[in-house]
Amino acid sequence: MTTYDIHARQGLPQEMQLLLRDYPREDWPGHPNFATATQNWMRAHQMFRQLGDIIVKDTEKLLEKEMETERYASRLSHYGNQLVNNLHGHHHWEDHSFFPELEAADPRFLRGLEMLETDHTEMDALLDTFTDAANRYLQLERLSPKDTREELPAMLKAGESIKRFLDRHLADEEDLVVPIILHHKLRG
Ligand SMILES: [Fe+2]
Ligand SMILES: [Fe+2]
Repeated sequence: MTTYDIHARQGLPQEMQLLLRDYPREDWPGHPNFATATQNWMRAHQMFRQLGDIIVKDTEKLLEKEMETERYASRLSHYGNQLVNNLHGHHHWEDHSFFPELEAADPRFLRGLEMLETDHTEMDALLDTFTDAANRYLQLERLSPKDTREELPAMLKAGESIKRFLDRHLADEEDLVVPIILHHKLRG
């Protein structure tokens, strides 16, 4: 049985590339059906990638003692909240509104959309682990700052897992979804 598990995938599975072959990524920006709504959706993905980068890089800097602990804590709280809340909202909208619209337009890609929904469920677990690690860190920062360094490896691991997940999920999602939108002239 084919596994579409995000940890095993190297990219969008071949059998889901039916339209991607006709609408390769380099043609998207100049395509007349590449609507503003689609560009905004991809911009949201770019923001998630940047937030993941910030969290990992900040933690690396703190480990190298290149950042003040107070500054790290305030950035972690700000950017961490932004990442978790916005990703939950984004996934909820995709699962309940966007993907059903795409499935109705082109039922050939049902399996691919199900694969992306399974990714979202997996992401929930990673976000929970990240939230727990961040809350533990921020609580120690208030109560017992000298113990915060011990929490940093767990923070780094949680941040890197999210970054890896986002790299794979967002690229595969765009490769599946944008060709459907362009082909069926959706969201224009
Ligand atoms: Fe998604
Ligand atoms: Fe998305």
